[in-house]
Amino acid sequence: MEVKITKLDNFGRGIAYVNNKICFIPNTLQDEVVNIEIIAEKKKYLEGRLLSIKDASLERQKPKCPLASICGGCDLQHLSFSAENDFKQEKVKAILHKFLNLPASKVQDIIFSSDYNYRNKVTFHVQNKQIGFYEKNTNTLIEIDHCFLLAEKINNLLPILKQVVFKNNIEEIIIRVTNDEGQVMVKLIGDVTTYQELLTVVDVLYINEKIVTPKTTFITTIGPKKYSLSIASFFQINKTLTKNLYDTVKEEIMKANYSKVLDLYCGTGSIGLYLNDYVQELIGIDYLESNIKDANYNKDLNNAHNVTYLCAKVEDVITSFQNIDAIIVDPPRKGLDSKSKSTIVNIAPQKIIYVSCDLLTLARDLAFFQDKYEIDFVKPFNMFPKTYHVECICSLTKKIIDKELL
Ligand SMILES: C[S@@+](CC[C@H](N)C(=O)[O-])C[C@H]1O[C@@H](n2cnc3c(N)ncnc32)[C@H](O)[C@@H]1O
Repeated sequence: MEVKITKLDNFGRGIAYVNNKICFIPNTLQDEVVNIEIIAEKKKYLEGRLLSIKDASLERQKPKCPLASICGGCDLQHLSFSAENDFKQEKVKAILHKFLNLPASKVQDIIFSSDYNYRNKVTFHVQNKQIGFYEKNTNTLIEIDHCFLLAEKINNLLPILKQVVFKNNIEEIIIRVTNDEGQVMVKLIGDVTTYQELLTVVDVLYINEKIVTPKTTFITTIGPKKYSLSIASFFQINKTLTKNLYDTVKEEIMKANYSKVLDLYCGTGSIGLYLNDYVQELIGIDYLESNIKDANYNKDLNNAHNVTYLCAKVEDVITSFQNIDAIIVDPPRKGLDSKSKSTIVNIAPQKIIYVSCDLLTLARDLAFFQDKYEIDFVKPFNMFPKTYHVECICSLTKKIIDKELL
């Protein structure tokens, strides 16, 4: 049937209405007239598949990658980069308005850098001696010779990895490069006995949990700061834009003289160590041992004498803190749990800086803080071009409540 796409949803899928029922159609764009078939009929919505395009959007572009519409990695390669940035900017405004009634003027312009070759890390699956990604929503492998989202240094490793895969029974390959692409770290998971050819091209090599190179970590940089990373540790995947993200958090912290600051969900200490020079004391918390081991090393690497790290679940230890001036939170996609949120409100820091990789949980959590905190601004960052994901920083200031009015 022929339908008109009215807009894109949060996941970058086109929305059309079929007999007044909402229908989601991937790979379509706003204002396009397209032919589709219905592939799933649910109680509240339909799912459609694009068959042909009658009137194409002016923002439609030919994807660089021939696998773009089937591989699970990209959602928006068919959209121009400027329209992708506009889409993300507008969805931040729309969702925060819907959940919080936030005025559009509080959402600043989206920050972006290069749209390709931005990822410093990848996890490849291996099936039947082929290296690739899973097809969207399946476990069917799509073989990959080159991925446009990855740092070139990662793509350049693929031919040699194919040889290694051929000689072993490998299930998964994790590759990480430094942000300047100077060094590379690889982990092979599976039954691996022959890997000599890799030793000449990688700096750090793990075979399952065993390290087989003299080096166990490498040092990457963000702006002036150095970070030592192990394979299991969390690190922001965008090679260049992470600096802009951290600069924004630093600028917010520099606006006041905060003495005690919490860096919750601190990973390898990356945000806290980017700004610890501007506070008296900083405490970072993360539950992953590998992150905290690296964070403690990174503390010394950056001569940060005012920083301490705690390996624990935030929700298990947060009640033990008081007299905190500012709290930085950078939780995983599921956002903050209720106990941590109410404890943060009880601690009552002057400033909360929320770094979020999930717009819906950000909206939910900001709604919780809204009574006691003023939202100063939300700044979107296009950290994951060609996907529907958007990173945001939200700066909140404690409201001054006039006691006479209570
Ligand atoms: C989005 S990452 C942020 C890391 C860091 N701020 C950065 O910019 O690199 C989220 C981090 O939260 C940690 N994490 C997830 N759930 C947690 C919990 N309940 N308590 C403590 N840390 C947690 C993960 O280990 C991960 O390092």
